[in-house]
Amino acid sequence: MTQCKTSKEIGGMGHSLKRKEDARFIQGKGHYVDDIKLPGMLYMDIVRSPYAYAKIKSINIEEAMKVPGVITVVTGKDLEKYKLHWMPTLMSDTQMVLPTDTVMYQAQEVCAVIATSKYAARDGREAVKVEYEPMKPVMDPFKSLDPAAPVLRTDKPGKKDNHIWHWQAGDKEKTAQVFANADVVIKQQMHIPRIHVVSIETCGCVADYDKVNHHLTMYMTTQAPHAIRTVIALVAGHVGLSEERIRVVSPDIGGGFGGKVPVYPGYVIAIAVSFLVGKPVKWIEDRSENLQADSFARDYHITAELAGTKEGKILATRFKVLADHGYTDAAANPSKFPLGLFSICTGSYDYNAAFVEADAVYTNKPPGGVAYRCSFRVTEAVQAIERLTDMFAKKIGKDPAELRMQNFIKKEDFPWHSPTGWIYDSGNYQAGLQKAMDVVGYAALRKEQAEKQARGELMGIGISTFTEIVGAGPSKDFDILGIKMFDSAEIRVHPTGKAIARFGTKSQGQGHETTYAQIIAEELGIPAENIQVEEGDTDTAPYGLGTYASRSTPTAGAAAAVASRKLRDKARKIAAYLLEVSENDLEWETGKFFVKGAPEKSKTIQEIVFAAYTNHPQGMEAGFEATHYYDPPNLTFPSGAYICVVDIDKETGAIHIRRFVAIDDCGNIINPMIVQGQVHGGLTQAVAPAMYEELIYDGEGNILNGTLMDYLVPTAVESPKWETGHTCTPSPHHPIGAKGVGESPTVGGPPAIANAIIDALSPFGITHIDIPITPYKVWKALKEHGAYDK
Ligand code: CDP
Repeated sequence: MTQCKTSKEIGGMGHSLKRKEDARFIQGKGHYVDDIKLPGMLYMDIVRSPYAYAKIKSINIEEAMKVPGVITVVTGKDLEKYKLHWMPTLMSDTQMVLPTDTVMYQAQEVCAVIATSKYAARDGREAVKVEYEPMKPVMDPFKSLDPAAPVLRTDKPGKKDNHIWHWQAGDKEKTAQVFANADVVIKQQMHIPRIHVVSIETCGCVADYDKVNHHLTMYMTTQAPHAIRTVIALVAGHVGLSEERIRVVSPDIGGGFGGKVPVYPGYVIAIAVSFLVGKPVKWIEDRSENLQADSFARDYHITAELAGTKEGKILATRFKVLADHGYTDAAANPSKFPLGLFSICTGSYDYNAAFVEADAVYTNKPPGGVAYRCSFRVTEAVQAIERLTDMFAKKIGKDPAELRMQNFIKKEDFPWHSPTGWIYDSGNYQAGLQKAMDVVGYAALRKEQAEKQARGELMGIGISTFTEIVGAGPSKDFDILGIKMFDSAEIRVHPTGKAIARFGTKSQGQGHETTYAQIIAEELGIPAENIQVEEGDTDTAPYGLGTYASRSTPTAGAAAAVASRKLRDKARKIAAYLLEVSENDLEWETGKFFVKGAPEKSKTIQEIVFAAYTNHPQGMEAGFEATHYYDPPNLTFPSGAYICVVDIDKETGAIHIRRFVAIDDCGNIINPMIVQGQVHGGLTQAVAPAMYEELIYDGEGNILNGTLMDYLVPTAVESPKWETGHTCTPSPHHPIGAKGVGESPTVGGPPAIANAIIDALSPFGITHIDIPITPYKVWKALKEHGAYDK
């Protein structure tokens, strides 16, 4: 009898296997776009607009062309000759690649300088002279809707205003009725400001057009290689670059967070130049360009309302949203839900009346709407509902933990039909909050707080009990440019029992090379160390929609499990043939089939795979490989209970996060260490919008904090010690019961911090401050509420 290894020994599910990819990362052997050097490669730099809204009167390239090494300067008019000056966005909007007459936002691409070195390209950029005729930009989204505002998108025939879309969900009349009869109504205007993903690696590409073979290889920083390939074919199909002639390769990526989903003009310009010049062209953004021109998220103005009883029962919520998407809507967007998944705004609570409506507008800000680690607007929704919940508790004088416990959807009420149309798959919110309260020592902290308040000290405890929504598809609801949102896995096992598995997703640091291997190891019994995982090459990977919004585990992770199970079915047939028994007489145990009642008669997966190439049953196809395109029947609904404890210095407004306990529920966990890492990183990204980050523009459209000197990104110094843990309610519809996790902390973290700060300030009657809550805002609010009056 062959002794099989345990799930742990083969690196199966639920084990903290060390990340396979880290060997190359920690040795500095990662391979990023900027590491690519091709023979004859040219370098591109981009001249950008200093104005937010201006006519281009002239572009003088004379001096630039004199710079040694400069080959050419490409303008919008040059691209227009090939109809390459416009492109679609993944949101089904359109965007200029290079302008022919008008610039629409500060830092917009105006023309591109191509040279033999990046230094020559930069010198050439400085020598280009552009004459502008500035116009008054529209920077305020509310004023953008004013009938007197200039119509910004004159490129759209018949467009008479700056309105992009209206969308609504829930029952308007029923909600209005509940509000009219409620004991208590809370109403708060909130702004979730525009922020940036600030990944360590900026965006960039090497476009390599091979004139002889009429083929483009595009190396680029993209989270969605296949979708990009399709977009390139849509933009450049008419010059002969059809999809079979395009290969998109996404090498290692230094963080994406949603910012590397959209198509940026730089990519298309590089392709156009490579096509025209016949040489590879490299374009890499510098840090300031990245911060000023792309990867923007949020900028939502929300009127948030909650109706409840004086005993603390939530009855209804109502949200009116104005979304400032800047010059164009650049993000990937599930087409049926223009507001993304904001409609998760009813949160973890049991009530059945809600109404949400939203309008999106154009302004002269750079393209917005990137789904920055927020599953398409969930961060905004969770901030609104969790702030409202705390305000409600304060208003009626109830403990916010007790009020949440009172209002949670009960674990036996899943699947839960939310009033805005979602079917939550599973959850146990009471267990999560209870665990967080136990870990933090909630009762003792409240006692300490009361004592401190009596001494005039400011201490706050903030809770956020959020429900996330991740895993787009299902394809009936979600598509990008019409392409249905499934995802894929292809597993090919070689005769010696070692495998290669390819996916349509693309890791940017999440550890897919490890976790996908663990899923396959668990399902097939092949050790994870013998499974090579590849992503990011459209020539080899099956079509997929990419990695963002915590969708990889719910979609591609599921595809890995189902493809493995297809192989296990084949393995069963081969084992039955080899052991000369019926398939029904076989049982599976990690890595082998054995005969029921006779465990000494068995075949390991390695023996079976070898037989698939050498000695398989007559009529059966040789080889051992399977592909699966997984279309999820529903999204997954991870959840979390976070508790934050802050101390605030009354004189300066300085905020110190003393404790932060995060209990997450992402269903069955593939790799606990990776999940913990995801949560640590995500929580630091939660501190960012809660306390530091906001892109600020003046009335002329100038960005006032467009460098990392003044756009504040929290570092390890500003991050508290994270105390993490988990509860587990498996997703009933996911093949391995897993839910996504990557963005949960970014979603659930900010309101916990905001609620803690407001809790500390509440003795002075302060009920709300918009994020980011800075020491200055705290000091100002305290001053306005008489805290410094003698
Ligand atoms: O789409 P993305 O990879 O960003 O997000 P995710 O599906 O939440 O996964 C992030 C990482 O956590 C991946 O390596 C997953 O395999 C891992 N994960 C896990 O180990 N267990 C889960 N239940 C969910 C995610």
